[in-house]
Amino acid sequence: MKVLFVADVDGKPGRRALKEALPALARTHGADCIIVNGENAAGGVGITADTYHEIVAAGARVVTLGNHTFDKRGTEELLDQEPWLLRPANYPPGTPGRGWLKVSVAGVRLLVVNMLGRALMGLAADCPFRAMDAILADEAGQADAVFVDFHAEATSEKKAMFHYLDGRVAAVVGTHTHVQTADLEISARGTASITDVGMTGPRHSVIGVDPQVALERFLSQRPVRFETAAGPWQLDAVAITIEEGKATSADVIHLVEASDR
Ligand code: FE2
Repeated sequence: MKVLFVADVDGKPGRRALKEALPALARTHGADCIIVNGENAAGGVGITADTYHEIVAAGARVVTLGNHTFDKRGTEELLDQEPWLLRPANYPPGTPGRGWLKVSVAGVRLLVVNMLGRALMGLAADCPFRAMDAILADEAGQADAVFVDFHAEATSEKKAMFHYLDGRVAAVVGTHTHVQTADLEISARGTASITDVGMTGPRHSVIGVDPQVALERFLSQRPVRFETAAGPWQLDAVAITIEEGKATSADVIHLVEASDR
């Protein structure tokens, strides 16, 4: 089974990248299942029904979220309505929606988990390590492979999670920092990991934000409303082959819009 995971879709340029490039990319890689992180899909923060459906229309089977899950009005209802939309599993008990689900991919039961880091995130999520233990115990014997989107700021917390889950899941990919890291690997125990898959959004930006606006905040030290940059897109992703619950090959993908090459 080949899983194509697309990093944080940011605003209109990100959604345009999916529409223009994802179907062909999925064909090229022979993807059986596409997972997309959509937590910045609506204007850079959060997701709406319309932006969720745009992501699904481009080919996503599962959409994951992160620290901006509830930034847009209506996300509680959207989570109730859309079974393939995940929010981080370690939000407090009673939070609307779900943090993990199983999809059947070519007869294989793939467990997809969305988890939020705690270091430097400004959110008091439950312990992601213990939350992973609980999910894996709950699903023991009921899933053939596990894919984790660990949405976290600190590289140290992400690396720690890779070691924690080594040999227990097929893949654990980092998201949130929007810059693709050069450390994609498969461990001896068959777990693929990468600290950050990157961003699918405006290429000429400060992690998605208009550079002028981001600079104004840095230079003035005053709160400035962030705006998603316009212009050409980039699409960041990883393609991971999973056989008998273990990762057997992994590739990073960094595409840029043709007009901007
Ligand atoms: Fe994030």
